[in-house]
Order: sequence, then structure tokens, then C-alpha cells
Amino acid sequence: MEKVDEIIARYNGDRSALISILQDIQAEYNWLPREVLTEVAKKMGLSLTELCGTVTFYRSFRLKPRGKHLITVCMGTACHVRGAPRVLEELEKKLKTSAGATTPDRLFTLETVRCLGACALGPIVVLGDEYHGQMTKAKVDALLSEVRQSERGASQ
Ligand code: FES
Repeated sequence: MEKVDEIIARYNGDRSALISILQDIQAEYNWLPREVLTEVAKKMGLSLTELCGTVTFYRSFRLKPRGKHLITVCMGTACHVRGAPRVLEELEKKLKTSAGATTPDRLFTLETVRCLGACALGPIVVLGDEYHGQMTKAKVDALLSEVRQSERGASQ
């Protein structure tokens, strides 16, 4: 909880900076675990109920773990008819997870979305901020290998 204390201290524990504090904490953990929220409530003299009310009000706060890499598959109509379900199925198979979930190693979170507004490129998979158009089952492997390779490079 050292990081949490550090972040709260950065804002002098000011309650009017609660959103910024929560954003910084989320940037640190990638989500807001319950034990962290309990600590924040205690340190800032708020009840957990009050704090949870704030957290659930803003869609940007995550109460479920999120992987380091977010993969979003567009399941809008245009992408759907061009094969998005097959791409999603392949991702679920390769990641051994399902849409809406995070891999146990917390490396990937798989999500779906309804139309990204770039239908001509469909089916689209977004990795982080990068759009990958005309996705196929075959391209899924290459995409995941690329991430895994960069992760291995980063840990060496
Ligand atoms: S349906 Fe996928 S971008 Fe529009």
C-alpha cells in the first residue's frame, strides 16, 4: 500500500482531488482493487460506500482487473458479417479466456465493442490504441506473437 500512500500524499489527502487520486492509483494498478479502495477510504476519512459511489459513477474506473494489453474486437454489424465472430473465437482460444475477461497472467484483457466507426476496415481488432483492420484468424497469431515478443524483450 506504499504506492497508495504516496499518491494520496501527492495531493495532501485533499478530498477535492479524489478523482485525480483514483486516476493515479488506477494508472498504477491498472484497476481499483477492493483492498486499495478500503485503504483510500480509511486514509481520506471516507466511508467505503461513499467512495464506491464515486467510483461506480465514472465509467473510466475499473473494478475488475485489466490486463496490460487491451484487445478489443469490433462486433458491430459490418465487422460481424466480415468474420469478426471467427476472429473473436480465435482470440478466445489462443488466450484461453473469453470476451470480457482477463488472462490469469494479467497480460491481456479481451473485450468487444459495437462499431468503432471504421466499418470499411472490418473486421477490426484494436490492440491498445492501434487499429488492425481486415483481421483474420490467421492474423491473430501474428498479433499475439508480436506482443509476447515485445514483452520478452522488455523483461530481458
Ligand atoms: S462495425 Fe466494426 S467498425 Fe463499424
